[in-house]
Amino acid sequence: MSHSAEPLPMTARRSGPLRGEARIPGDKSISHRALILGALSVGETHITGLLEGQDVLDTAKAMQAFGAQIERLGIGEWKVNGVGVGGFAEPEGVIDCGNSGTGVRLIMGAMATTPISATFTGDASLSRRPMGRVTDPLELFGCEVTAREGKRLPVTIKGAADPVPVRYKTPVASAQIKSAVLLAGLNAPGQTVVIESEPTRDHTERMLAGFGATITTEITDEGRVITLTGRPELKPQPVAVPRDPSSAAFPVAAALIVPGSEIRVPGVSRNPTRDGLYVTLVEMGADITFENQREEGGEPVADLLVRHSALKGVTVPAERAASMIDEFPILSVIACFAEGMTVMQGVHELRVKESDRIAAMEDGLIANGAKVTSTEDSMTVEGTGGLTGGATAATHIDHRIAMSFLVAGLASQQPISVDDGSPIATSFPDFLPLMQALGAEIA
Ligand code: S3P
Repeated sequence: MSHSAEPLPMTARRSGPLRGEARIPGDKSISHRALILGALSVGETHITGLLEGQDVLDTAKAMQAFGAQIERLGIGEWKVNGVGVGGFAEPEGVIDCGNSGTGVRLIMGAMATTPISATFTGDASLSRRPMGRVTDPLELFGCEVTAREGKRLPVTIKGAADPVPVRYKTPVASAQIKSAVLLAGLNAPGQTVVIESEPTRDHTERMLAGFGATITTEITDEGRVITLTGRPELKPQPVAVPRDPSSAAFPVAAALIVPGSEIRVPGVSRNPTRDGLYVTLVEMGADITFENQREEGGEPVADLLVRHSALKGVTVPAERAASMIDEFPILSVIACFAEGMTVMQGVHELRVKESDRIAAMEDGLIANGAKVTSTEDSMTVEGTGGLTGGATAATHIDHRIAMSFLVAGLASQQPISVDDGSPIATSFPDFLPLMQALGAEIA
């Protein structure tokens, strides 16, 4: 669904200690993939813990448009009856992926090697984002692509009738590119190979293996070489979606910066390809205990115990960027409450997310009294142990920018407002009641 709601201004005020348990919704990346792989399997996939954010609901609607039967059984509990690899039907209407880069890029991959046509669109934010990074490798399989200026949405793909397998080295560290190529490779005969020099989130590889595909990952001098054998018969699977570490980052950050706080965050994924923020926070001196480390739904998870902490600035190396790519906005907030410089290196990809996240955070933080500088590929925050607040930040249709500034306002001297909190519903629909239940003053 395109973002058309009225702007929803929100304000966060300095709050007393946060206490209690934060039950985070399901992982967004895994939720998209559960629906798509369910749709590409023949038979019934049962999903529990699915994130019911707008991004994922848009992917569910898209899978229905391609012929899958999808039913909601209860909160987070969904059933997908798929059509199998190569079984997608041509959708009657335009596929509107709303705000979701993951949704549109993965679905383009999933249909590109089936002889059907589809047109993809999205909201104003998604329509600004580059799609050539995915459509270029998809064309190598033999599909035909037409797009707007700058390879932006709307994009129409005429899927390849006679796809050939592809060997592709990703030019930027991106799980979306990797995943689009692998999903396209499902319906190409022979072996499709993706090479990535920096490891990115590996949910597609883990889940494809779980659904019965033959897929291997080798670490070589070139990087991670992922080889998928095409034309498998994917077998429907029960999928238990773990809680999203990227969403957990917001209450975790709030507890770290609001004096006297102590919260528990159960069952958060600790997949090493998603773990960079938590590694960084521990380096900064954060009091976080990872309890009951275990495996759930094929992912390592832990229960987090987080207490308010005296933090110090650190340098986050470029090699870590991919494992925390969605967490830099909230890290830049946390860094304002630390003492000393926090330098975030190798973060150019932030410029092409739901917004230019470096610019959005820099502008809003400076307006609220922070010392921030940036280059094309880095961001530096000079932490002074606090933030003045008092200003309104522009969220640019970006959920993570909105949540980051609202968390900042919980510990700043003056309240912090955002011009539009409505995009939060794309990834964390219960953000407000969950934070309020911990004691956060946000309205
Ligand atoms: C995602 C990959 C990342 C991330 C996005 C989710 C995924 O994007 O920012 O929120 O589920 O594959 P890139 O692959 O473009 O870095």
